[in-house]
Amino acid sequence: MASDLVRFSVAIPGALLAEFDAYAARRGTLANRSEALRDLIREKLVEEDLRTPEEEVVGSITMVYDHHTPDLTRKLDEIQHAHTREIVSAMHVHLDHHNCLEIIAVRGKGEDIYRLADCLLGVKGVAHGQLTCTATGSAMSNGAGHAHGHDHEHAHDHAHDHEHAHEHSAG
Ligand code: NI
Repeated sequence: MASDLVRFSVAIPGALLAEFDAYAARRGTLANRSEALRDLIREKLVEEDLRTPEEEVVGSITMVYDHHTPDLTRKLDEIQHAHTREIVSAMHVHLDHHNCLEIIAVRGKGEDIYRLADCLLGVKGVAHGQLTCTATGSAMSNGAGHAHGHDHEHAHDHAHDHEHAHEHSAG
């Protein structure tokens, strides 16, 4: 694998890098920033594997942003108005002078929900955001939530195994 390594440079705010180093230290990978970054990328890609474009999913999109960011609120509103079919409900909390927390409940076909989340979280100025999908609508309406629970668990096991395998190779 070592021969596959590619070097690239990344521009990152100093404060963010300091936080990343603190995170890496907690994970025991501070000695190797590249290793810590590779871990994060792999985690993200595993998350992507769990996407189920064909299934009906329910979940929530959580995001934090500074509402003073020019044009940001308008863009987020516009996206949400274009997805009234997928958005069940939204809660907006004015956290402090700058920051807003928005929690949006969503339901719909996987690919539509993922596209909506990518769209919202991709808007420049959204500082932190996450899509959490908790169950499929079809599984719930069939009363087969239990079966889905197993799928979900398995997915987590997979991510967990991956992490362990990786830690071994790093050590
Ligand atoms: Ni607000």
